[in-house]
Amino acid sequence: MNFEPYKIKVVEPIPITKREDRLKYIKEAHYNVFFLPSSVVTIDLLTDSGTSALSKYQLSAMILGDESYAGAESYYKFEEAVRKYTTKLQVIPVHQGRAGERIITISLLKKGDIVISNTLFDTTRANFEFGGAIIYDIPEEHDIESEYPFKGNIDLNKLEDLLKKHRDRVRFVVLTITNNSGGGQAVSIENVRETKFLCSKYGVKLLIDACRVSENSYLLKLRDKNYSNKSILEIVNETLSYADIITFSAKKDGLNHIGGFIALDDRELAEEFRSYLVLFEGFPTYGGMAGRDLEIISVGLFEGIDENYLSHRINQVKFLVESLCKINIPVMRPFGGHAIYVEAKRFLEHIDESEFPGQSLVVALYIEGGIRAVEVGKFMFKDARYNFVRLAIPRRVYTKSHLEYVVDIFNLIKEKRHKIKGMKIVKESRFLRHFRSYLEPVENWTNEL
Ligand SMILES: Cc1ncc(COP(=O)(O)O)c(C=O)c1O
Repeated sequence: MNFEPYKIKVVEPIPITKREDRLKYIKEAHYNVFFLPSSVVTIDLLTDSGTSALSKYQLSAMILGDESYAGAESYYKFEEAVRKYTTKLQVIPVHQGRAGERIITISLLKKGDIVISNTLFDTTRANFEFGGAIIYDIPEEHDIESEYPFKGNIDLNKLEDLLKKHRDRVRFVVLTITNNSGGGQAVSIENVRETKFLCSKYGVKLLIDACRVSENSYLLKLRDKNYSNKSILEIVNETLSYADIITFSAKKDGLNHIGGFIALDDRELAEEFRSYLVLFEGFPTYGGMAGRDLEIISVGLFEGIDENYLSHRINQVKFLVESLCKINIPVMRPFGGHAIYVEAKRFLEHIDESEFPGQSLVVALYIEGGIRAVEVGKFMFKDARYNFVRLAIPRRVYTKSHLEYVVDIFNLIKEKRHKIKGMKIVKESRFLRHFRSYLEPVENWTNEL
């Protein structure tokens, strides 16, 4: 069975635009798709974050939202749900993942501290660097087209070397699960266990950025024979049991449009976090969310571990990976949990990395088919190893025919890829430059495409 495991109750019309208008829209957006209004985007694969469709159970839970400032009933439900999901006792609600990252930065980091990770997500890195930390991203290295099942892993040898060398300066180690900026790839349970072992050996805390841990657990169930008979909740629980601190953006596997939490067992540290929570977010029983969001997430966390749902979701990613491979588009393999990563430099070999082939492909996808994707390469991270274009799949939103359309557009672009040229930045923003910088096509190639 591989049909959508849901029926559609409410529909949202999709904007259909003309090519000549798209040329105008992308120019007006300074060739940065973050400036495009969604009303001119046909298939929006910019992100899987906060873009899920809600279920009837979530919508009805929403009505139960207790909006009391202190001690809201919805908070206690949320606390119980998060405890069941994470196994941690202290639950600190935040309005989204980066709000938790900010609280952790202010509480724990000072200038010159070191943070080591399998790969930090962009907002996490930006927050920690803002706090003065030096970041080491040390993913295991694999060829992007190899079928190694756990490419999201941290390199344990490099980790131990760094821990030995900088023991006093390493503030914590972070595992991002799944590894979003590293290709949405799965992290193995052994890797989490071994990382925890090394952290304990060197007296360093392990932080897990867990916003896609349900998807990771499904991939573990598929790929690790020791876990094939375990429930997703058991795998989530075991994975998170190794963390000292968990950060979670509920906009992903929490199946809500906003929200998140920090969870931990250390009561004293939790109190420190709560003092900043009051300053930046809100009272500890709502922490920047409305009561209704606490209710929706309490339901969403468990809909997100339903195996029918996960099987369909991961199969959507697999379908796109396999279909693009069939037409020789270079994509990261094997399939990950939430997105497809096309290696744009291998696809547009004639474009120099300094001219952002990934951003050129993003622009071409929009002009050709009104598809919005995002560059995760040298434009996003100056020192990126690859020039990925990420096509993230929103949860429970698109059907197979939408994905087939994406494949058709890739096929059309493939035929005229030699016409695509590079991009240049004409105005660069200070932090997280991919969000707000202006670009222009080199040699005006967009009109000729
Ligand atoms: C791995 C990871 N960590 C943290 C975040 C930040 O979460 P938020 O967007 O809720 O601030 C994201 C968002 O996409 C993410 O993918």
